Amino acid sequence: MSETSNKPSKNNPADKLWGGRFTAPTNEFVEVFTASVGFDQRMYKQDITGSIAHARMLEHIGVLTADECKAIITGLNDIMIDIESGQFAWSTALEDVHMNIEARLTDRIGVTGKKLHTGRSRNDQVATDIRLYLRDEVDAIDAELKRLLEGLVSLATREVDTIMPGFTHLQTAQPVSFGHHMLAWCEMLIRDRERLVDCRKRINVMPLGSAALAGTTYPIDREFTARELGFDGICENSLDGVSDRDFAIELVSVSSLIMMHLSRFSEELVLWSSAQFDFVDLGDSFCTGSSIMPQKKNPDVPELVRGKTGRIYGHLMSLLTLMKGQPLAYNKDNQEDKEPLFDTVDNLKGCLRLYADMMPQIEVKKEKMYAAARSGFSTATDLADYLVRKGMPFRDAHEVVGKSVGYGVETGKDLSDMSLDELKVFSDIIEQDVFDVLTLEGSVAARNHRGGTAPEQVRKQIERLKKYFKG
Ligand code: ARG
Repeated sequence: MSETSNKPSKNNPADKLWGGRFTAPTNEFVEVFTASVGFDQRMYKQDITGSIAHARMLEHIGVLTADECKAIITGLNDIMIDIESGQFAWSTALEDVHMNIEARLTDRIGVTGKKLHTGRSRNDQVATDIRLYLRDEVDAIDAELKRLLEGLVSLATREVDTIMPGFTHLQTAQPVSFGHHMLAWCEMLIRDRERLVDCRKRINVMPLGSAALAGTTYPIDREFTARELGFDGICENSLDGVSDRDFAIELVSVSSLIMMHLSRFSEELVLWSSAQFDFVDLGDSFCTGSSIMPQKKNPDVPELVRGKTGRIYGHLMSLLTLMKGQPLAYNKDNQEDKEPLFDTVDNLKGCLRLYADMMPQIEVKKEKMYAAARSGFSTATDLADYLVRKGMPFRDAHEVVGKSVGYGVETGKDLSDMSLDELKVFSDIIEQDVFDVLTLEGSVAARNHRGGTAPEQVRKQIERLKKYFKG
């Protein structure tokens, strides 16, 4: 709602592009309150591209002459240059990006500029601009996601044989390959990419031609405009085309899922970089210090990513709520779609970019992870499975191992630290070969099936993922 121009307000109705039926000037604060140019000017490129395609279509159907079309296109391209070189003074009195550009076009090329809006409304224009804008942003988000995935796969490749404690309830559960753990994040982010690609299909459909709500009396060629703009399809109902924003909500929903994944990942990185875990070092360039405690190296990036998840969820809720009470077709409420959308896209891209940059910097503290995996009786299930293989029913085996763990807690010994005689106290079917399964390496290697944590399987999955990136 901020003033974006120092020019005096064009408060005289005769100066408004829609001023024909008005006699009294707009209340000055209404002008500021209803303007969107302060934030929708970021869609200038899409607005100009859409207008050029529309002008070409008008020429194609004989509504504009070739000369008129040429003048409009030249004028619009010049405006683009002015905007990009900071020469364009945006005016709040002209309300939004669409009317700012259109008014400037007429200033520049004269009366021909006034013909551009033939057979079009700001309602289908803005819906088109948002879709063009989001289409580009989806591609940028996807590129960052891909970069992050590649970083994760490299990290996983480096650390296939690194053993860490796997957790349930944040209690040591079973040892896993650190590479396997990284590939879990890959699976989630790959599904996110699939959702993004799917959502793009519904974004890339053209509303232009819906005009205000009912279509237009001109013999427009919508397929022509759609081809010019690279749309995959055309909105089949003009009322729907100008009014719904489900495609945008879907993108914020996909974004929320991505943020949910990044936030969980962040939580792990925050824990792992603490002195208590000490599993990873995030690299100095991704941390900051404390102004009072000299020893601190804080994991700000993951913390902030976790924090930003909340605002993206908030945007999802605000967009859903924005739409829920609107009768068809376009209502001014829809102007409120932009700030949450822009903020979602900006923050999501920022988070993904930092995560992708951070991956190669993560130092994995293998010894610390290994020691932690050895200390929480993480091979207890392996001992139970061993007893089952020797003929004991699983519930009895569970009981025997529970007692051995109790003994370990009392004596401060891990299962693999106990002697055969000590173990035999709990079951005399335990033999020397038990030590093959009680080591962390033995435990991990034994989960050797598709989806399991055995390094052999992790390597196979990495190969599959490399094909996925090429394909
Ligand atoms: N600035 C408006 C928006 O963002 C553009 C469409 C306005 N249309 C109208 N009839 N007032 O939604």
